[in-house]
Amino acid sequence: MPVRAPLIAGVPPARIAALAEWEAATYAAARPKCRAALAAGAGAWLDGVPMHWMRDWPQPFPMVVAKARDAKIEDLDGNVLDDFCLGDTGAMFGHSPAPVAKAIRHQARRGLTTMLPGEDALAVGVLLQERFGPMLWQIATTATDANRFALRVARAVTGRPKVLVFSGCYHGTVDEAMVQLAGGQTVPRPGLVGQAADLTQTAVAVEFNDLTAVEEALKAGDIAAVLAEPVMTNACMVLPEPGFHEALRRLASDYGALLILDETHTQSSGLGGYTRRHGLQPDMFVVGKCIAGGIPAAAWGMSAEVAERLHRYHQTRPPGHSGMGTTLSANPMQFAALRATLAEVMTPKAFARMEDGAAKLEAGLAKAIAHHGAPWHVVRVGARVEFICHPTPLRNGTEAAAAHHPALEAAIHAALLNRGCLIAPFHNMMLVSPVTSGKQIARLIAAFEAVLAELFA
Ligand SMILES: Cc1ncc(COP(=O)(O)O)c(C=O)c1O
Repeated sequence: MPVRAPLIAGVPPARIAALAEWEAATYAAARPKCRAALAAGAGAWLDGVPMHWMRDWPQPFPMVVAKARDAKIEDLDGNVLDDFCLGDTGAMFGHSPAPVAKAIRHQARRGLTTMLPGEDALAVGVLLQERFGPMLWQIATTATDANRFALRVARAVTGRPKVLVFSGCYHGTVDEAMVQLAGGQTVPRPGLVGQAADLTQTAVAVEFNDLTAVEEALKAGDIAAVLAEPVMTNACMVLPEPGFHEALRRLASDYGALLILDETHTQSSGLGGYTRRHGLQPDMFVVGKCIAGGIPAAAWGMSAEVAERLHRYHQTRPPGHSGMGTTLSANPMQFAALRATLAEVMTPKAFARMEDGAAKLEAGLAKAIAHHGAPWHVVRVGARVEFICHPTPLRNGTEAAAAHHPALEAAIHAALLNRGCLIAPFHNMMLVSPVTSGKQIARLIAAFEAVLAELFA
């Protein structure tokens, strides 16, 4: 008797390989112009792309984009896709929202960067407080930078060196967060390029939802901040267990650490993010990606108490560079886009539409999974939906890593793309924007159903 290879999340590996091969050929056949453009123009880029993440899509060569508008993206060959990746949250409100495009056009002739505030900047501060809470805010250009600066402030005001993160987290390319648990020890994540500093000197990793481990780590008295996403969104989606956030808040306070919530992805939860929706009380708050409608911008805020501690700290430190800030941050173009997004795009009405569409998508995907008896499930956080190729909800990053099946997921992504639907490359995430139509959602559900029919035939 021949030995059968074990199933991957319920699917025979040979079927995954066959699907992947077929989808790669189908993709390439539909894109002669993309291929020719890459052959003519990609040679100047390292590995053929201007940013290495563009190689992370499962396709044999990257799609060359002609334009993106609302929730659609079109390549050079005229293939139009329903975009549920939405720039991995950067375009969560749709591509080129009209108020943002208008504000950019208006600002374009009035100066692009000045190192001084304008009226838009003043309006944006007030809008950030209205949308996300009564923090005192600063602007950065990426959420990565915002997290780095927040961590510096936390270290400064507590006088402590370390940050506590959850194994499997991602907070941008922030060194301190690039650790994970292995055999109960904090270790650097594998694969880091050119890593010289010993990250375990400045970071501790514990499992999400493990309050005992959080308390044990905090007891050492050297943790400046707990840096967390309210829901883990970068390692499949891991939801907090009931009471987790309340206990996290209490533990951070009891042991003198600050609580930094990074809502860069979980702002999909609704206006004001997961924090506002669930009444959380962070000391510091970070948000980025889509807050300026796709123009690079991030905001980080601190409570009045932390701000007061920071002012006191400033009085004691010697003059010199703070290690925070970048030259083009807080420029007028960012503020024009931020103002338009916060005031006109990121509205309660927009979130209601997103939530409604995402709930339909969640229900449709769950129905298809049940229909085919796939040992998978669906998770949703507001406008953010993810199918997970594992039967039960995940409790932490280690479980999430084990539930991740790269070959299977890549084949599904490729098959969805050939059926007109683009989803995020790194995980099985789909975003529903305010301009995503019911038809687009129905098409994605139908495409998913068709792919499951092939995998579970
Ligand atoms: C939770 C979270 N925080 C921060 C970041 C960093 O954002 P950026 O790459 O725009 O700096 C990411 C990126 O995916 C993220 O998922």
